[in-house]
Amino acid sequence: MQAEPSLQELRELVADFEPGRGHLMPALHKVQDRYGYISRDAVEVVARQLNTTPALVFGAVSFYDDFRSHPASATEIAWCSGPACRLRGGDRIRAAMQQILELPLGGESEDHRYGLHLGQCNGTCSEAPQVWVNGQVVGGLTVSSAIALARDVRGGE
Ligand code: FES
Repeated sequence: MQAEPSLQELRELVADFEPGRGHLMPALHKVQDRYGYISRDAVEVVARQLNTTPALVFGAVSFYDDFRSHPASATEIAWCSGPACRLRGGDRIRAAMQQILELPLGGESEDHRYGLHLGQCNGTCSEAPQVWVNGQVVGGLTVSSAIALARDVRGGE
C-alpha cells in the first residue's frame, strides 16, 4: 500500500482496461490492491479510461464492501460476530467498545486513526470472545478489558 498516487501512476495502472468489456470491477480491484483504497482521483481516472461517468464508478466503490474510498485506519478493530464469541458475551464487548470509541459498527474515526468493523469467525473460537486488532487476535475479552482496549486505541486524543 502506498500514499496518494499521482494521476500519471493511476493512468498507467488502468491503461489496459477498455470500455464496454466489463472492466470496471477488475480496474477497481487493481487500484484497491495497489493503494489500499480508491481515491477521488482514481474514480475520475477509471471513469475516463472506461468512457463512463465518475458517478457510476463511485457508485460501485460505495456499493461493494471490498472497496474503500480512503486509506485504511491506522488501527483496524474487527469484532468477531461468530456464534462462539456471541455466546460468550461478544455483544456486550461490542457495545462497550462502541461506546468508548463512539463509533457504529463499520465506522471509522474522522481522522482515520481507528475503525471498528464486523468480523467473521476465523476458527480461533477457543479465545472467544475476541476482536482482531490489525489482524492480531485479542481474545478472552471481558467488558472491562474491552473498555481498556478501546481506551488504549483511542488514546492520544
Ligand atoms: S466465533 Fe469468534 S472466533 Fe469463532
